Amino acid sequence: MPSSHALLLCFCLLIFTVHARLCGDVECPRSNACCSDAVHGPVCYFPQFYHCAVDRFTPYSQSLCARGDGSCATVCYDAKRYDCVGGQIKERIKQRSPFPFYPFKNSENYSPIIDAMPSMISEQKEMPNLYLLTCRYYIPQFKPHNRATDVPYMVKVLVAGAAGGIGQPLSLLLKQNLPAGSTLALFDVVNVIGVGEDLSHINTHVKLEVHLGDLKNPSNTTELDKATQNLDLAVIPAGVPRKPGMTRDDLFKVNAGIVKGLVESIAKNSPKALIAIITNPVNSTVPAAAEILKKAGVYDPKRLFGVSTLDIVRAQTFIGQLKGQNPAEVKVHVIGGHSPETMLPILSSVSGISFSEEETSSLSTKIKEAGTAVVNAKDGMGSATLSMAYAGARFALGLVKALNGESGIIEDSYVDTSSTDLGVSFLAVPVEFGKNGIEKIHPLPQMNESEKKQLAELIPIVQKNIDTGLEFAKSA
Ligand SMILES: *[C@@H]1O[C@H](CO)[C@@H](O)[C@H](O)[C@H]1NC(C)=O
Ligand SMILES: *[C@@H]1O[C@H](CO)[C@@H](O)[C@H](O)[C@H]1NC(C)=O
Ligand SMILES: *[C@@H]1O[C@H](CO)[C@@H](O)[C@H](O)[C@H]1NC(C)=O
Repeated sequence: MPSSHALLLCFCLLIFTVHARLCGDVECPRSNACCSDAVHGPVCYFPQFYHCAVDRFTPYSQSLCARGDGSCATVCYDAKRYDCVGGQIKERIKQRSPFPFYPFKNSENYSPIIDAMPSMISEQKEMPNLYLLTCRYYIPQFKPHNRATDVPYMVKVLVAGAAGGIGQPLSLLLKQNLPAGSTLALFDVVNVIGVGEDLSHINTHVKLEVHLGDLKNPSNTTELDKATQNLDLAVIPAGVPRKPGMTRDDLFKVNAGIVKGLVESIAKNSPKALIAIITNPVNSTVPAAAEILKKAGVYDPKRLFGVSTLDIVRAQTFIGQLKGQNPAEVKVHVIGGHSPETMLPILSSVSGISFSEEETSSLSTKIKEAGTAVVNAKDGMGSATLSMAYAGARFALGLVKALNGESGIIEDSYVDTSSTDLGVSFLAVPVEFGKNGIEKIHPLPQMNESEKKQLAELIPIVQKNIDTGLEFAKSA
């Protein structure tokens, strides 16, 4: 051992023997203080870098945090930017996200914090060398508090069909908006390597995993099985758009086949993952997916969603335009099925806005026919992809926020309603998200007589679509 090190060690031992004081069963030197950390027990710490923060949620407990940080339900957070509200870390300033994702509730004043902690890790590295070399014992013996112990704040999200028209912009929005430290897995059978390389240059702390499936041999699921490991959420826009000459039934058979392969892999590798299906026709692909999950023995109706969010996004936009209001703040439900014949915008319960008979009729038609309007305007070049990606991202990020413990996020979604008294096994209804997917299916919004009548008429149509989906899955 070099003599200077020996000297430092002596110096260190000297401090230890002369000035040591007890901190649990550890003795701290005089330059250290002691903190009874709620998670790690008594730890010595160096007050130049850390402080023992009184917890803002449970005031009788303390956490060792970086100086200037607060403690919220044992999690350290940057007290300059965040507050502890009811045990959750919330951003202080009014949200200024370019994507005002949640029109219904929550985030009026707060958005959840994504990564409260990394400051501690870097400050720990800045410990003077003297301590690192000689008094290793006195360096705080703790790992930074990690929210992952109670909530999965770094999620893994899969986009299946990531190179497609919806998949690409959807992956972009998720790369931009997922919590720091999350993983975004991209799967497709064509072009996904390039999409992944392109997205990988975006400077957000979201890791990318890129998986190119075997187009020629769909039964080779090697890459898909890698993509579906450890998933918290799978978003599925994969599928083919309807081509000229293709009936809706043809479309369904092709797309249901694609969804089947994906869902089987998810069932095998991440049976607890939430699954959000965008692939059309949603009225049938979602019930088909449910049947596939049942066959695999892992079906949980709380974890499977059909994304009908674009219907709500469109309704918000058209109502906002018509009435001169901010579309992001329009509160409207669109329930029923996810097709022109079956969707039902509930205009009578839009708060603070009333509509004439004429407005109701033209708005309803505009909302229902919006998909066709895009198909016509694109003139043979496809259907809605950008707005669908936006809606899919809003839905997926809502689920991720709920996985992180945020409450009060409600979206209309096409889900299993067999546990309700609606008399149909799947329907788009108001759903509150939670840590296990569906926290609660809310009662249908208030409807007036004509809306009630329309609902009663569309339910048998939806049930017929569901049966088609079930038949496919049973025979497949
Ligand atoms: C399956 O796909 C993987 C990855 O693309 C490839 O390495 C492997 O050779 C393929 N196996 C078969 C049997 O085709
Ligand atoms: C139901 O509500 C819509 C939208 O406000 C309105 O236009 C329609 O006249 C109402 N129908 C009945 C029967 O009250
Ligand atoms: C889904 O709904 C649309 C519109 O109602 C319908 O044309 C289509 O046939 C349905 N899908 C299936 C597979 O039944």
